[in-house]
Amino acid sequence: MNLEEIRIDRQKWMTWKNIKPLRDAIAVLEDANFEVELGDVVKIKGESTQNIEDIARTMMPWRKGPFEIFECLIDTEWKSNIKYNLLRKHFNLKDKRVADIGCNNGYYLFRMQEDSPKSLVGFDPSPLYKTQFDFVNHFVKSDIVYELLGVEHLEFYEDKFDTIFCLGVLYHRSDPVAMLKSLFRGLDVEGEVILDTFYIEGDDEMALCPKSSYSKIPNIYFVPTIPALKNWCLRAGFSSFEVLETSVTDADEQRKTSWIEGQSLEDFLDPNDNTKTVEGYPAPARVYVKLIKDKK
Ligand SMILES: C[S@@+](CC[C@H](N)C(=O)[O-])C[C@H]1O[C@@H](n2cnc3c(N)ncnc32)[C@H](O)[C@@H]1O
Repeated sequence: MNLEEIRIDRQKWMTWKNIKPLRDAIAVLEDANFEVELGDVVKIKGESTQNIEDIARTMMPWRKGPFEIFECLIDTEWKSNIKYNLLRKHFNLKDKRVADIGCNNGYYLFRMQEDSPKSLVGFDPSPLYKTQFDFVNHFVKSDIVYELLGVEHLEFYEDKFDTIFCLGVLYHRSDPVAMLKSLFRGLDVEGEVILDTFYIEGDDEMALCPKSSYSKIPNIYFVPTIPALKNWCLRAGFSSFEVLETSVTDADEQRKTSWIEGQSLEDFLDPNDNTKTVEGYPAPARVYVKLIKDKK
């Protein structure tokens, strides 16, 4: 697979008529060195004569965050700090080569800088989310590399990784074991993956296959029990599977704000029974796992 050709081809996405004006706005942002605070809110301190909020709003929907740029709080649909903080005690990225697959606008990558990793690379094939990343990174000025590539390109990537995060992507893949194999091959001879996915309760090695949508999300293919997920991971080649955490998403973590159009979690659950989705499936719960690749 020739990644350079794919990169050149995808660079053209930045000229789409919904993306080009956003890129033009980034190109004329005022430049300076700004103070950055990498807390629950990724904050950029300083001031600008430009209307940052107006520019940021042209880049909606903002799903992952929050960010604060000068006076403008980008109150994203997800409080991604909750997931980050849940995982924080389970990783140390010092001097590691790190990838975040499905990195969205890079919120976790910005926060991961606190560990001083050797490198940080984000993969996400969305020109809008890359544009949000470039907007925030104009102020942060990080060395994070953002590739407009998907998990399917990872095994062909020029570099291998020590730690790969893959959060909230597995259930979007029609062949989850193939995706797990791609993560395995994206690691160096040894390494670790931190992954989360929706799961259903149960001791049986089973997966729910939603008919057309799950929690109103159309492209969800499989929601496994934890034993089924373990089997997928072992079949993909990992030598160890450790459950780190489980959680149920609530309306504090995911909710409608003025930074997204349309609906959010409260519209996705059964109004009479919030343990079920509107389709009648078990409400979304997540399992967070660490997978180890050992030297053969
Ligand atoms: C549910 S979001 C998860 C975002 C973030 N990782 C998190 O956990 O909060 C899924 C992300 O996967 C990205 N995505 C879509 N297709 C992908 C692919 N083929 N490979 C990697 N990421 C993909 C989407 O653009 C989106 O940002």
